[in-house]
Amino acid sequence: MSRARIVLWLRLTLRPACSLYRARFMEEQTQGLRNPGEMENGTEPCGEECASEAQETTVTEGAAKIAFPSANEVFYNPVQEFNRDLTCAVITEFARVQLAAKGIQRGAFSGGASLSPDLCFWVAAVKVPGEKDVQKVVVDLSEQEEENAELKEGANLAPGDQPRTAAVGEICEEGLRVLEGLAASGLRSIRFAREVPGLQSVVANDASARAVDLIRRNVQLNGVAHLVHPRQADARMLMYQHQKASERFDVIDLDPYGSPAPFLDAAVQAVSEGGLLCVTCTDMAVLAGNSGETCYSKYGAMALKSRACHEMALRIVLHSLDLRANCYQRFVVPLLSVSADFYVRVFVRVFTGQAKVKASASKQALVFQCVGCGTFHLQRLGKASGASGGRVKFSAACGPPVAPECEHCGQRHQLGGPLWAEPIHDLDFVGRVLEAVSTNPGRFHTAERIRGVLSVITEELPDVPLYYTLDQLSSTIRCSTPRLLQLRSALLHAGFRVSLSHACKNAVKTDAPSSALWDIMRCWEKECPVKRERLSETSPAFRILSVEPRLQANFTIREDANPSSRQRGLKRFQANPEANWGPRPRARPGGKAAGGAMEERRRLHQNKRKEPAEDPVQRAARLKTFPCKRFKEGTCQHGDQCCYSHSSPAPEDTADEDPGDHPETPCQNPPGPGMATGPGVD
Ligand SMILES: C[S@@+](CC[C@H](N)C(=O)[O-])C[C@H]1O[C@@H](n2cnc3c(N)ncnc32)[C@H](O)[C@@H]1O
Ligand SMILES: *[C@@H]1O[C@H](CO)[C@@H](O)[C@H](O)[C@H]1NC(C)=O
Ligand SMILES: *[C@@H]1O[C@H](CO)[C@@H](O)[C@H](O)[C@H]1NC(C)=O
Ligand SMILES: [Zn+2]
Repeated sequence: MSRARIVLWLRLTLRPACSLYRARFMEEQTQGLRNPGEMENGTEPCGEECASEAQETTVTEGAAKIAFPSANEVFYNPVQEFNRDLTCAVITEFARVQLAAKGIQRGAFSGGASLSPDLCFWVAAVKVPGEKDVQKVVVDLSEQEEENAELKEGANLAPGDQPRTAAVGEICEEGLRVLEGLAASGLRSIRFAREVPGLQSVVANDASARAVDLIRRNVQLNGVAHLVHPRQADARMLMYQHQKASERFDVIDLDPYGSPAPFLDAAVQAVSEGGLLCVTCTDMAVLAGNSGETCYSKYGAMALKSRACHEMALRIVLHSLDLRANCYQRFVVPLLSVSADFYVRVFVRVFTGQAKVKASASKQALVFQCVGCGTFHLQRLGKASGASGGRVKFSAACGPPVAPECEHCGQRHQLGGPLWAEPIHDLDFVGRVLEAVSTNPGRFHTAERIRGVLSVITEELPDVPLYYTLDQLSSTIRCSTPRLLQLRSALLHAGFRVSLSHACKNAVKTDAPSSALWDIMRCWEKECPVKRERLSETSPAFRILSVEPRLQANFTIREDANPSSRQRGLKRFQANPEANWGPRPRARPGGKAAGGAMEERRRLHQNKRKEPAEDPVQRAARLKTFPCKRFKEGTCQHGDQCCYSHSSPAPEDTADEDPGDHPETPCQNPPGPGMATGPGVD
């Protein structure tokens, strides 16, 4: 087979691995915005210095400069910069994918129709600030394509079919139609316009007139009025008005106060075929199992208190999104699911297909979690199996996967879910985002953190939902804590896979059956034995340790036990980013007073907090167990955002739980008998 050599121009940062990227090369233009890396750094509320008008505040984030009339009149949370940076990075990669696909559809190549689709000889001319200039790349084409070769060498443009580019700040006719449903100051939308290439339009919507006034001003201030269209509407109504296929949005970003649940039904209908939904949830107390029944009412799933609560939260949100989409013969495909700080953020694509929707039941699972030792088992809601002729047969699942009493410690199981049990990321897509951010670190203020988090995500075992934590395993049997590398090595020696999770610093995600995991812990206990006489005979520790391990664990450190992200010293698990951080209170007219009280309360709480800092989600969950005094008096203005409980006090169901497994307080293990000060993690 003879081969034609075609010289191509490929962007350095784009992979030549083709099928997704077909577009033509464009001369790099120097117009447009400066690289945000050269601009003012990060989030610097300049406060009084720059406040020329009374109480005016200006904030610079990324390539946007945002004016605020006064503190807390319109919502702004600087800690969410990571969320916004990450979203810009994700939408940029999504734009590359979508534009490439559109290029093929439009058949902008004369003669292009006869070409094999997996050949890649054009790349979307998507100009991302800070990315290196294109390079010459030589690609081999097979014989069949040879005759078309001249076409590609430049004669391939039909007359009048000028090469098209997608640059930040410019309207791209084939580009993405973006909706930010809850835009507050417009910061996020303006950042999209100034930092993400390949956009056709951005609708920056908010229900509040005050917010929309501010959006208008900020749009002017940033010179993006041609791209960003302010709207004042209830986001749901706006989305319901865009259900028609031709009027849907390619990207919908929802960043509400607390739960996005009220917006999801409209969102899954208003997003285009294969379009992107980006959803933030800050109601972590609910998602992390503080009140399972509230979680059910919002997301259709029972949350459990669990060490793996952050990943469980992600999976509950994905379950909810898929279920809402299923009502309309649609389904979701997760691209990236991130647990960060005090919130979770999911990026999913939405597709339509009656046949594929049938598979959704078998993608969800119930969780059985032992209250004594925390061991969990998943039970899928349905079964999909291969039938003759390549068809898929659907049937009921068989269960339960556990006996009424835990096989390890004899205690009972709690039932959680259903939750999404399939992979929560598209690792190919995450790899693209990671590569783009790593090779262009000046683009985002939080690039280092994005790199760390996405690196851990690419290491997560994609097919193993949830995880245990190192301290949970050791505190359950009251022994010292092995080093992370020791436990990981033992699992690898025994022939299992193991990974971290970006959602929790001490996570042990493994495909080892729970019996093997407890055997390894039993072997560990033999190295520094626990005094049995100090254990109650009904305790999980006693029950687990009274069985001889069948597996001989080998704790010799293995080279491959150290994850690459850890070896490379990436910034993976961020400590609290600043003082007084967390979800912000609702903005309100004359917002200062309410905000001030909140700040004051935060400061009080933070000064009281012991080191190491409590996990923010667990802390939120703990605070939610205290009844709100102001609510009782009828004076609390925080609604769902109040960090204290607004429901009537219910007796806590802790009567017969072992103190060794108190999921609300994972950071403070009760000192067990024989507890040596283990070396711990990291
Ligand atoms: C958390 S803020 C959004 C922050 C913004 N996305 C950012 O990154 O800075 C939530 C906003 O939603 C608005 N909002 C609340 N309910 C709404 C609704 N039903 N429709 C549209 N906007 C709503 C509020 O006015 C508020 O400005
Ligand atoms: C911006 O931050 C980078 C790294 O954080 C630093 O090297 C640079 O000097 C800063 N630039 C300005 C203008 O502060
Ligand atoms: C543990 O693994 C190491 C390294 O593979 C090996 O040299 C050693 O013999 C093993 N120990 C046992 C008890 O199997
Ligand atoms: Zn158990």
